[in-house]
Amino acid sequence: MKKHVDLNASYQPASFGFRDPSAVSEIIGRYPPGRQRSAVMPLLDLAQRQVAADGLKATPPYGGWIPRAAMDEIARILDMPPIRVYEVATFYSMYNLAPVGVNLVQVCTTTPCWLCGSDKIVKTCQDKLGIGVGETTPDGKFTLVEVECMGACVNAPMVQINDDYYEDLTPEGTGGLIESLAQGKKPPSGSQSGRKGSMALSGPTSLAAQARSSMK
Ligand code: FES
Repeated sequence: MKKHVDLNASYQPASFGFRDPSAVSEIIGRYPPGRQRSAVMPLLDLAQRQVAADGLKATPPYGGWIPRAAMDEIARILDMPPIRVYEVATFYSMYNLAPVGVNLVQVCTTTPCWLCGSDKIVKTCQDKLGIGVGETTPDGKFTLVEVECMGACVNAPMVQINDDYYEDLTPEGTGGLIESLAQGKKPPSGSQSGRKGSMALSGPTSLAAQARSSMK
């Protein structure tokens, strides 16, 4: 899905500052002298998480996104042209550049997930939330988007909700996930069918004895 970006939108705040300068210094210090610009990605992530923390206290609440003012502040801190920060932030789908709901529900609809029923997962989300793809619920709790492969095809179909993957989904299980999140609960992430990692649904098929003992 095309990422929504409008650097001049009315919802863009006029300024942004990092609340925790020590976190900024720690991130920049991970890189060798002269390579501080490599910190652009973790600083974008830090900004998005700060906005998410603020959003939880707002009415209605909102989720993590990166205002233009934050990108400009990162450019200033790293002494790089703002366009270089915009280029990174607009390229990677993990950065939201417009307000989103507290729970960003990203449904994978690429071929392996589609073959395993992602259409029904999207439909369940739409029905449960009462919104279409690319929309946010009026209470600010959910945004629904479709995304391309997130590398968990072996446990398809799957969704990513904020930082967590939920895999081996059924429409019923997906509905339950949304209900739990709507109540402010965080359901256990990972496979929803109970399998460990990406082993076969029928159980381990190689090094079976060792695998079974590690599952105890
Ligand atoms: S196709 Fe859905 S995770 Fe790869």
